[in-house]
Formats: sequence, structure tokens, C-alpha cells
Amino acid sequence: MKRVLSRVVLASGVLLGITAVSPSFAADAAGPAKPDAAKGGQLYEQGDAARGVVACVSCHGAAGNSTIPANPNLAAQSHEYLYKQLVNFRPAEGAKEPLRKGVDGAPSMMTAMAAPLSDADMRNVAFFLSQQKLTEPATATNVKSVERGQKIWRAGIPERNVAACAGCHSPNGAGIPSQFPRLSGQFPSYIEDQLKLFRAGHRANGPMMNQIADRMNDADIKAVSDYAAGLR
Ligand code: HEC
Ligand code: HEC
Repeated sequence: MKRVLSRVVLASGVLLGITAVSPSFAADAAGPAKPDAAKGGQLYEQGDAARGVVACVSCHGAAGNSTIPANPNLAAQSHEYLYKQLVNFRPAEGAKEPLRKGVDGAPSMMTAMAAPLSDADMRNVAFFLSQQKLTEPATATNVKSVERGQKIWRAGIPERNVAACAGCHSPNGAGIPSQFPRLSGQFPSYIEDQLKLFRAGHRANGPMMNQIADRMNDADIKAVSDYAAGLR
């Protein structure tokens, strides 16, 4: 299945026009000191018990390759994106709630995990993860929804003003570092959950995604999530 999907995408070679909306997280991630991947790797693997940092590896797997679909793959994701997520799991100064919440608006599991991290920790661990390889990418599983998923991915849903995912997340789903996250190889169920969180507004850290998800029904979301996961 994996093979078939990637060939379809390569064969198309479509370059979709990107409507130039520039998300803000590139600038936010330009920190003062260069991130230290070795320190990030150590924190990822061992945590820091003295400061209450749980080892990320216990949920996100070796080098960011998760084996549990509820815990997303983090390997080969852009560090700017990962850093921004860690920031968004915590309430901003003066805010009651974080921008990125979990199901039904309850705190995400990550809010407690991100709480003890320093700014340098977040930059270091994000940088470490961006350098890891996605060794066991998730694949698409639903043959029946491929066509619908591919259509939404490449062309959006014009009648409901849903933009093509490929225009931002790139045709092969690898994303555009510092602007748009990678979706290829991510667990389909995780992608689906995030689209539903965007739609419900519980994840409010990507206004573009809130608008897009708001115009999609459950079947659209399921089909495109499965398709995106299988892209290579
Ligand atoms: C107890 C399990 C657990 C631990 C430990 C954990 N995570 Fe997570 N992580 C999750 C879950 C579950 C999610 C999905 C959260 C959601 O959707 O609200 C997640 C999501 C994330 C995301 C967002 C990924 C994306 O694609 O948007 C990042 C980044 C992340 N975790 C980094 C870390 C780091 C760094 C550590 C260690 C300091 C860590 N996690 C420790 C369970 C965990
Ligand atoms: C206009 C650009 C744009 C388009 C079009 C777009 N996205 Fe996104 N998407 C983003 C941005 C920016 C983010 C990161 C938001 C953030 O900072 O958390 C994102 C994040 C996501 C995430 C969260 C990834 C994670 O690891 O948690 C998913 C899932 C997603 N998009 C799916 C889609 C799908 C499916 C489509 C097509 C129906 C789509 N996107 C179309 C810009 C876009």
C-alpha cells in the first residue's frame, strides 16, 4: 500500500501554488544560543528526575520513533515546529490555559510533560529530534478511502473552500521546515485526532488549521489522514 501511494504521488509531480501566508513560528524559534543536540538527546533519553522531567523516550520511542499511535512520531520533524508545540502546551504568560489542549478541552498529556522544561531544554530536544530518522514510518491502511484522501490532499475541497493540504505540507507530505510540519509517516489516528482538535478549537495554535478543519466532515478527515500518513 505504502509503495502504491508514494508512486502515485511521485508520478503526479504537481507543484501546487502556495498561498503565501507566513506562519509566525520561524521567527519565534530563532533563539539566542545555537541548540545543543547532544544535550537534547540526553534529556530525551533520560529525562531529569531532579527537575521532574520525564524521559520522552518512554512514550515517543527510541529516537522519536513511537510504537504507540496515541504518542506521535517526532523523528525528522522540523525543530521550529517541535519547539513551538512545546511552548504551546504551556499556558503563555498571563494566560489561564495553553493554546494547545487535549480532547474535550482537557489538558493535553504534554502540558505536564512540558511544564518543567526550560527554554533551552525545548530548543535542544527539538533540535535533537529534527536530526533523527523516521525508521518505522506509519502507513495508510484504508484502501477504500485512498481516492477521496488523495483528492483532498491535492485539490482540497473547493466547494467548501478547503485549501489543498499539499500546498502547505508539500506534495509528498514532508512539510516545509520552519513553516509547515511533516505529516507523512505519522500515525493516521493521530492526524485524525489533531484535525478534530483543530475543528473543535481545543487546539488553537494554528489558526489556518482551525479554518480548514472547520469545513471538513468526519469522513473527509478520516480519508485525508490515512492518505497523508502513507505519503512518502
Ligand atoms: C506519558 C507519555 C509522554 C511523555 C513522557 C512525553 N510525551 Fe510528548 N506527547 C504525548 C502525547 C499523548 C502527545 C499528543 C498530545 C496531544 O495531542 O495533545 C504528545 C505530543 C508531543 C509533541 C507534539 C507533536 C506534534 O506532532 O505536534 C511534542 C513536540 C512532544 N510530545 C514532545 C515531547 C518531549 C520533548 C517529551 C520529553 C520531555 C515528551 N514529549 C514526553 C505523550 C508523551
Ligand atoms: C495554508 C497552509 C496550510 C494548509 C492548506 C494545510 N495546513 Fe495543516 N498545518 C498548517 C500549519 C501552519 C500547521 C502548524 C500549526 C501549529 O503551529 O501547530 C499545520 C498543522 C497540521 C497538523 C498537525 C500536525 C501535528 O503533528 O500535530 C495536521 C494534522 C494538519 N496540519 C493537517 C492538514 C491537512 C489534512 C490539510 C488539508 C486538508 C492541511 N493540514 C492543510 C498549515 C496548513
